[in-house]
Amino acid sequence: MLYYICTMVVLIVGNGGREHALAWKISQSSLCHELFIAPGNPGTALNGKNVAIDSNDFDALSKFCIENNVDLVVVGPETPLVNGIVDVFKTNPNTQHISIVGPSENGAQLEGSKAFAKEFMKKYQIPTARYIEVTLENISEAYEFFNSGHKPYVLKADGLAGGKGVIILDDENEARATLLDMLNGSFGLASRKVVIEEFLDGIEFSVFVLTDGNEYILLPEAKDYKRIGEGDTGLNTGGMGAVSPVPFVTSDLMDKVVKKIIKPTIQGINDQEIDYKGFIFFGLILVNDEPFVIEYNCRLGDPETEAILPRINEDLLPLLFDTANGGLKARTLDVLSDSAVTIMLVSNGYPQKFKKGYPISNLDRLGDCHAFYAGVAINEKGDIITNGGRVVALTTVAKNGNIALENSRSAAEKVSFENKYFRRDIGFDLGIGVHQ
Ligand code: AMP
Ligand code: GLY
Repeated sequence: MLYYICTMVVLIVGNGGREHALAWKISQSSLCHELFIAPGNPGTALNGKNVAIDSNDFDALSKFCIENNVDLVVVGPETPLVNGIVDVFKTNPNTQHISIVGPSENGAQLEGSKAFAKEFMKKYQIPTARYIEVTLENISEAYEFFNSGHKPYVLKADGLAGGKGVIILDDENEARATLLDMLNGSFGLASRKVVIEEFLDGIEFSVFVLTDGNEYILLPEAKDYKRIGEGDTGLNTGGMGAVSPVPFVTSDLMDKVVKKIIKPTIQGINDQEIDYKGFIFFGLILVNDEPFVIEYNCRLGDPETEAILPRINEDLLPLLFDTANGGLKARTLDVLSDSAVTIMLVSNGYPQKFKKGYPISNLDRLGDCHAFYAGVAINEKGDIITNGGRVVALTTVAKNGNIALENSRSAAEKVSFENKYFRRDIGFDLGIGVHQ
């Protein structure tokens, strides 16, 4: 156990529902002296002070931390991590002393480059779909892959593409044309290299750890609902809801995940001397009772965070501080056995075109349901208005999933704004809320 500086000044970087959930959790810590969120949103302002600095303005963030004696920085989203915020803080003599939760730029490549992640998994024999890496130079290998008949074809832009860089196609001609578009820059630089992989048919779930690169602590698992439409149909979104725990994730399955995926990943990080002090989000799929990695993310998930943090029954701040300082002790976390169900309210039209600026009402009348704000702003009149595709994440923690779902769903009905849309079937595939 490291010695804590009595209490801490903390800065959270980001402005979504995930960051609101982090702010809500961290503000409950007796070790938290002062909490800032950059840039935050009207929800994070309920738990700390918002600072109008963009998440990717590292100079301004560094200056703010120095001037305000920030002790600990927690980075929420992937973009600043992939762009090297941790390296910037650690190489500047004036910010070197500040503890920062997040991987180095090199470690963040586990999310920032699909090719890097696949090569890493291959090297450490971590179960994942078979793949090839393609650029315009070796495009013939892709045609051979398509010829081999491994349908459907999964095409992934190598770099960050805001959750839209994965395209799954059944038709070989369409796959060839899409691949060419991607390599010619349909996702900008991110798709100048493409990973093509075998399709894995199974059920997805997400596992999270906090690691200092040597030791790790397992956080509660979750399942998120990526598609816009009920019955998991339509376009992919950032996530329309989440459930934690996941009923099919038994302790036997988790033991397999630890043995075959988590431990070899930490071992690989260690082996390659990657500076990784932050969260790892394992996007997994269960195929014939065996877990495979679909993707790594170098941060917590959104809206998974809104479902898992309310189940953690202890102070997160000391663990974050120990992580940042390389002093994490492996142990089991105190997690509520209760279930959390999160429903995301979105603007109709999301994930494509949608209107914003509509007043939101009833957010303060939700009883046991937590409202974590995402795309929310305050207008000149002081009204709370919609300001994004994903607007508010509503989480209830209850004795069981059915009660949690029912309560989150009635809160979802109650919160009102024009063009509101949400999925009413969160958890149904897990047997939650069916036949009620
Ligand atoms: P990713 O951005 O890598 O998480 O991919 C987005 C979504 O595409 C995943 O959540 C899966 O639903 C799907 N997906 C990605 N890779 C595969 C694969 N190899 N087999 C089946 N589905 C996949
Ligand atoms: N909900 C999926 C993600 O955060 O990437």
